[in-house]
Amino acid sequence: GWTMKSFAKNAVAEIRNAVGDKQVILGLSGGVDSSVAAMLIHQAIGRQLTCIFVDNGLLRQDEGARLKKLFGQHLKMNIDYVNAGKQFTDALKGVTDPEKKRKIIGKVFMDVFEAEARKIKDAEFLAQGTLYPDIIESQSAFGGPTSIIKSHHNVGGLPKKMKLKLIEPLKFLFKDEVRKLGKTLGLPEELVWRQPFPGPGLAIRIIGEVTRKRLSVLRKVDAILLEEIRAAGYYKKVWQSFAVLLPIKSVGVMGDKRTYENIVALRAVTSVDAMTADWAKLPHKLLGTISNRIINEVNGVNRVVYDISSKPPSTIEWE
Ligand code: XMP
Repeated sequence: GWTMKSFAKNAVAEIRNAVGDKQVILGLSGGVDSSVAAMLIHQAIGRQLTCIFVDNGLLRQDEGARLKKLFGQHLKMNIDYVNAGKQFTDALKGVTDPEKKRKIIGKVFMDVFEAEARKIKDAEFLAQGTLYPDIIESQSAFGGPTSIIKSHHNVGGLPKKMKLKLIEPLKFLFKDEVRKLGKTLGLPEELVWRQPFPGPGLAIRIIGEVTRKRLSVLRKVDAILLEEIRAAGYYKKVWQSFAVLLPIKSVGVMGDKRTYENIVALRAVTSVDAMTADWAKLPHKLLGTISNRIINEVNGVNRVVYDISSKPPSTIEWE
């Protein structure tokens, strides 16, 4: 029967055949899709693949370092790690509107990615971890899926001058199949089962202006939340779990002193496809532990609330 092993074998052969001795670039995000695409293409052409990882400074704690270590050191891939945090935070200065944040982040990403891509000699292909559901949405526009390699297709945003051909090795797969393929290819469990994380990252989980200081606060809060969610066995049971930093302060008391500090909201949802979502009924004891740890360990936070709204009408993210 049809197995992930035979799928991988065929895809590897097709990629090798199409790429020849040319170079391939891929934008690695740390998510499941781009990671599995990278694994597959790496198996086919090894160091002819360069993975560009743009660290936008909006990632969860240790995420950039973890990715570099896993893909660079452990899996021996060619990783081009671009530390672009300052470019993103500079561009986001004073911006509070959610859609403006997204536009700015998308634009800076394209600029940084393009500049890196141009440095790679003989780059002829751009690989993407597009899945089948992404393709059916745009089927009418592109004529439907035929091969995993689309000739002379210019990628939206990358200049036509670069004339990159697109490789989309996952475009016939659904999410659960991509996870299976990742497992077959030896991608660590931790990555195979990673919760979805939005491209604009923590910027859309900081309501109001994104500053380095606020990023640092949210990162610490988020790390505690994840650590406790994992320890309690809820990381895989929920679709997403994260923290949101609010733009208002509230009064608290610490020892015999009055405090006036930030509020964070915790959000955990169950879902099958993110189209609808229920707030996760996390045990009160777990919520209590998370709240206590955040308030005790993170400077600048004196109140924690739990979001009990479902989608619709609320969305999963707050922005
Ligand atoms: P919402 O908040 O619309 O989110 O219920 C649905 C899913 O999409 C993710 N999300 C994003 N992912 N860029 C992304 O790559 C974005 O701008 C973005 N906004 C939301 C969200 O985390 C959830 O999984």
